[in-house]
Amino acid sequence: MLLLGIESTCDETAAAVVKDGQLVLSSVVASQTDLHAKFGGVVPEIASRAHLEVMQSLVVEALERAGITQPEMELAGVAVSHAPGLIGCLLVGVAAAKAYSFAWGVPLLGVNHVQAHLYSTLLVDPSMTGSPPPAPELPAIGLVISGGHSSIYHVREFDQLQRIGMTHDDAVGEAFDKVAAILQLGYPGGPLIDKLARDGDPHAIKFPVSLLEKDSLDFSFSGLKTSVLYHVCGRKGRERDASSLSHQQKADVAASFQRVCAVMLTEKLRRAASRYPCESILVGGGVSANSAIRQAVLELGNELDVPVFIPPMQFCTDNAAMIAGLGAVLLKAGKTAELNLEAIATV
Ligand code: KG4
Ligand code: ZN
Repeated sequence: MLLLGIESTCDETAAAVVKDGQLVLSSVVASQTDLHAKFGGVVPEIASRAHLEVMQSLVVEALERAGITQPEMELAGVAVSHAPGLIGCLLVGVAAAKAYSFAWGVPLLGVNHVQAHLYSTLLVDPSMTGSPPPAPELPAIGLVISGGHSSIYHVREFDQLQRIGMTHDDAVGEAFDKVAAILQLGYPGGPLIDKLARDGDPHAIKFPVSLLEKDSLDFSFSGLKTSVLYHVCGRKGRERDASSLSHQQKADVAASFQRVCAVMLTEKLRRAASRYPCESILVGGGVSANSAIRQAVLELGNELDVPVFIPPMQFCTDNAAMIAGLGAVLLKAGKTAELNLEAIATV
């Protein structure tokens, strides 16, 4: 069963073809990073226009790479991320998916982007050697960490998630991007901090670990971000800037910040796993590409004796393979969408 997936929730336009919900036959992603870099963040209007410009050619490329010449005969459906995200961006993907579904006479599937990030732990890239990883046992505890989300879910089925914790302020990816800006590293900051942190001492600076109330599963990253600002730029955040720091000092800030993020995230996972039935731990979203966070979650899994599933690197950040994959689950369950499928900014 082949499904086309379409993704356009934020600043990545993506199309993919996935077989039987797991095997990724093609996955193409057009990143808009360069368009937004000079603004230091995603500009919604620019993002939606850019999706519109590349959508058609990306779909054609994804079909070609998967060897599909007659989509109306070969595809079992078209899946699109219709929530949550930037509304103008979502509308482009949803409109395109409706048009393809109608033109080819195949079912339309409306996929939740956040649920798809957790589903991406199941994706298999044909270039991966060895046998495919076993599917995670459910129920699971799922952590979605990205530029827009920092939430914990109790996952009964991949399309049945209960949110049990969320951030009170910044998403963790946003905190990475802001700390990178404070350190004058560039945008998006997550991968740059990850790289710089390799040269640093994670215990060099004692940034505060905010765990909120004793039983809270929520997050707060704004205090940590402010502490980094004061450490780098002085008490009012304006006395000096990162150019006064040596490479080693910057690397120590990056490593110490990253360690505190890993501690906060794993502590909440530990609390969630002790309170909810948990056969597996799933981690998805762009920040799950972070080496220190991956390591910390794997260590937690060992300690709790619960298997941890983190997607292959290329499926951590936004992609359409995860949309087609979860679309297959919906299709099997008969949960198809109508042509009046709505784009929904927040859920
Ligand atoms: O999932 P994603 O591609 O888009 C959203 O749904 O937001 O996540 C993007 C976020 C950005 O904030 C980026 O800085 C962060 O993921 N990110 C990382 C790493 N790679 C990407 N953060 C920390 N370490 C990384 N290696
Ligand atoms: Zn995402």
